Amino acid sequence: MYKVSIEDVIPGMILDQDIYGEAHNKKNPLLCEGMEITASFLYMLKKRGVAFLHTSKPLKLEKDKSPYDMITKANPLAGLKLSMPKSKSIVSPKTKKQALKAVKDFQISISGLDADDVYEVMHILDNVLNHVLADFPKNLTEPINVHQLRGDDSFSYVYRHAISVAVISMAIGQYLSLPPADVRYLGKCASLHDIGMFLIPSKLTQLTPKSAPLKRDELEKIRRHTQLGYRQLVKMGITDEPILNCILHHHERLDGTGYPLGLRGEEISLWSRIIAIADVYDAMTSNRPYRPALPPSEACEFIMANANALFEYDIVAALLRRIEFYPVGICVKLSTGEHAVVIDNTKSRLRPVIRIISTDIERDLNDRRYFDITILKAISYQDIIEKR
Ligand SMILES: [Fe+2]
Repeated sequence: MYKVSIEDVIPGMILDQDIYGEAHNKKNPLLCEGMEITASFLYMLKKRGVAFLHTSKPLKLEKDKSPYDMITKANPLAGLKLSMPKSKSIVSPKTKKQALKAVKDFQISISGLDADDVYEVMHILDNVLNHVLADFPKNLTEPINVHQLRGDDSFSYVYRHAISVAVISMAIGQYLSLPPADVRYLGKCASLHDIGMFLIPSKLTQLTPKSAPLKRDELEKIRRHTQLGYRQLVKMGITDEPILNCILHHHERLDGTGYPLGLRGEEISLWSRIIAIADVYDAMTSNRPYRPALPPSEACEFIMANANALFEYDIVAALLRRIEFYPVGICVKLSTGEHAVVIDNTKSRLRPVIRIISTDIERDLNDRRYFDITILKAISYQDIIEKR
């Protein structure tokens, strides 16, 4: 752990310890461990006189360019009324790293066809997910920020996607009142749902911006990941029915248009129906080498438009109520071309109140006067500084 002077902090770093505004107030942290420091949080910490904070990584700073100078000189956040975060971060950097490693180890153990290894890794995964679940807000109306799960360069998309889908699935499962043991088991199934992707040739799964669009037969090969993952585990003597079921059925759709079996409605298990929605939401909102991430609002619109057709309505509703799509403090690009900071998301998770950076003007995107303004994407504070 590194103690870093507030003058050397840059937006994007992750806190390794809670920060308190006053020494005597140890009950209500200003910011919690695991949270990402956004530009507005940094501005607020300086205003509050916080002198230093703790992070797990040393920072590389641009010489002669203090981040504080970048903020005060550009002054885009002047006058910003800050809303405090509503919930503690759900996955600490340490737990996240353990979870990602467990999924990677699972891949290695199925490639080695060693069932004992698989069970050992599953046990580790179970413990890690228990930690994740213990940190979930107890109040089901409190949203869960999955935004912080993004952006770990040391693990590829497939590992991060596995853990994101597990967290989103567990959040939905908890909202639907599944018993805690089932929520944890659902998380384990979700983290292993795409395990068959490791059995597909990497030239098809690790595309680059220069890769040609996949041909029909190549797409068919990728679709076989559900059966390949299922068969591999069966061949190794793995008998956990829920895990096998979710690996095989997470691309089935309510109306029978999914694959590999074209199952309908309740022929698909509840857990597979939950993972299907978490999988689609996370995939659509993730950056990929061949396409940028879609904004959460657009992914949700697609999912909502297909509620009762592809996806189960109650599960879609649980996703919308449980996930925090635009956390307070993140910077976004609007359809007007302007950059803004999210300052309140309590009235509407998908249409938050924003403050436009260049003019300091607030807009409640849920107000019908601003219905023509959409959030195009979340952006980093550095992007804004560079474009000024
Ligand atoms: Fe899949």
